[in-house]
Amino acid sequence: MTTKNSRKKESGIDVLLREKGSYPPPKEFSRASRVGSFSELKKIRQGSLLNPEKFWNLAAQELFWFKPWRKTLEWKPPFAKWFVGGKTNACYNALDRHLTGFRRHKAALIWEGENKEKRVLTYLQLHREVCRAANALKNLGIQSGDRVAIYMPMIPEAVIAILACARIGAPHNVVFAGFSASALSERIQDAQAKLVITADGFFRKGLIVKPKDVVDEALKSAPSVQKVLVVNRGIVENTSWIEGRDVDWFEVLSEASENCPAAKLDSEHPLFILYTSGSTGKPKGILHTTGGYLVQAAWTTKYVFDLKDEDLFWCTADIGWVTGHSYVVYGPLLNGATIFMYEGAPMHPAPDRFWDMIERHKISVLYTAPTAIRAFMRLGESWPQKHDLSSLRLLGSVGEPINPEAWQWYHKNIGRGRCPIVDTWWQTETGSIMISPLPGATPSKPGSASLPLPGIDAEVVDREGKPVSLGTGGYLVIRKPWPGMLRTIYGNPARYKEQYFSQVRAPGKKGIPYYFTGDGARKDKDGYFWILGRIDDVLNVSGHRLSTMEIESALVSHPAVAEAAVVGRPDNLTGQAVSAFVTLKEGQNPDESLKREISEYVGRTISPIAKPADLRFTPLLPKTRSGKIMRRLLREIAAGGAVKGDITTLEDLGALEKLQSREED
Ligand code: WTA
Repeated sequence: MTTKNSRKKESGIDVLLREKGSYPPPKEFSRASRVGSFSELKKIRQGSLLNPEKFWNLAAQELFWFKPWRKTLEWKPPFAKWFVGGKTNACYNALDRHLTGFRRHKAALIWEGENKEKRVLTYLQLHREVCRAANALKNLGIQSGDRVAIYMPMIPEAVIAILACARIGAPHNVVFAGFSASALSERIQDAQAKLVITADGFFRKGLIVKPKDVVDEALKSAPSVQKVLVVNRGIVENTSWIEGRDVDWFEVLSEASENCPAAKLDSEHPLFILYTSGSTGKPKGILHTTGGYLVQAAWTTKYVFDLKDEDLFWCTADIGWVTGHSYVVYGPLLNGATIFMYEGAPMHPAPDRFWDMIERHKISVLYTAPTAIRAFMRLGESWPQKHDLSSLRLLGSVGEPINPEAWQWYHKNIGRGRCPIVDTWWQTETGSIMISPLPGATPSKPGSASLPLPGIDAEVVDREGKPVSLGTGGYLVIRKPWPGMLRTIYGNPARYKEQYFSQVRAPGKKGIPYYFTGDGARKDKDGYFWILGRIDDVLNVSGHRLSTMEIESALVSHPAVAEAAVVGRPDNLTGQAVSAFVTLKEGQNPDESLKREISEYVGRTISPIAKPADLRFTPLLPKTRSGKIMRRLLREIAAGGAVKGDITTLEDLGALEKLQSREED
């Protein structure tokens, strides 16, 4: 809070900035941080853009390499190789490196179950468990290059499993434990995974969820899997067991040696595949490799969160998303930090669960999503007010644009006006944070992710690749390769090229292709980036990416549905909400119970997060004469507004009128 006295102490520029809706970093924070002034950051950024390779080359030297690289970057657009010829290992960098010094007995991981069960693993203990798990994987026939699917709740074994895969060079394919059996099966099949790691159960809102059952169902259609490694926590009675296929995690780990040298892997060895939604119905397997990913994950964690050894870092993302990969697991461990991990639901048993844990564990950095902040905001200030949150020093936001109201609420009620907020823009494809303030240096403007980080050449351009003028909307592109970038779409380099590197090029006839993010953005007069959201057929619901086509194909696979169209509409809580328009087959009765049944069916087919927030039956969908569904119209109807603009190509105006008057509702 700014009082008269504290205002006096601030310099003129700070007051000016604040009045313009900009928040300079608190002085004490800047003094203690790695980059403590905006001018210093600007200098680093400018220097890095003149020679990004030099910048990343320096950053890479902070990691451990079994063999140094010959060449920083080999760029044959759109394919990049970073730190060519170098040999390293993600797990070695995350764990072994910390075992020789004071971090050996430091907590690497502090975990709390939903039922308040607690576990702490030091770096030494985590290392031992990971080595045992790595040997167990080897004993089960997993070799370097084999894909391992991980379908696990937020328990320490998930981190152990990820690092064990990395240790032996088996790319992990983590699938969010909220995905259905068919979504899991599709991902396992696409990756041709040989082994699945799962758990008997986990707690969510006081109930027990059973991922092993989902795995059993998924494997009926995924023959590549030979073994299932099950973390039996003993919370599910009579877990189904297939002799010869299912293996007990604790049993095999207890028999495995704790001595397992980390594989010396090529810098470009695949580290993981993570599926994300694209603009077609089929999820894309985003492939990340080792050296470059690690360098950027380590650098961004160190500087964006200004991470210190004393910190307790809590990234609330699930390990099933990229944020969980880069900022629950790799980034913090690469920096020798202590990570906090929580198993359960944010509001269980009461809406102050988060604040209670922050107070009890003395968490110092909190990284969460705007949708969570908005959900807390709805429940009022009294829940955080009950708690001492003075251990917090920094807050972060990711997944979607944070609306200024939520930013202010977060700043006031959680940060108590003391903590800077880093609004971080990035994607599954980018691997790590790309656009973000540095908390000790960048004045924040609520709602803007601020400026690209050093080494990142992001720009807002028009179709011809020319930067648009300030204040004008355009395509958000990355003009030069960066170390953590995806290398391809697994098994589909043509789609990789088409999806990301064919839409926008540098101006001129032979302009090199730019990486197209799928997001629209504009820059303000200070060069700050304001993300406008997706401009393709991807929805962002509560920070989760969903493809309209994926939901449409789930809808039409329901026996009562003839045709379906899905669009996003604005929603105060979830950012966007899924709005479905459904045409039924002849003879079906368009009543409320069928609506519910179809919605539930989508939840079962993809995941509960994909369930339509509203579903309308319509005898016809508005189409152009060439048969394309007019999504723009549907979006306008879904948002509750009047239909504007050109509808001259609309084939059946009657369909539109019916939808608008909601006769069929
Ligand atoms: C959106 C999550 C605005 C954006 C790390 C992007 C954001 C998509 C922000 C990627 C932010 C993420 N401000 N929009 N700070 N962060 N997005 O792959 O549309 O799950 O393209 O990665 O989320 O989602 P993904």
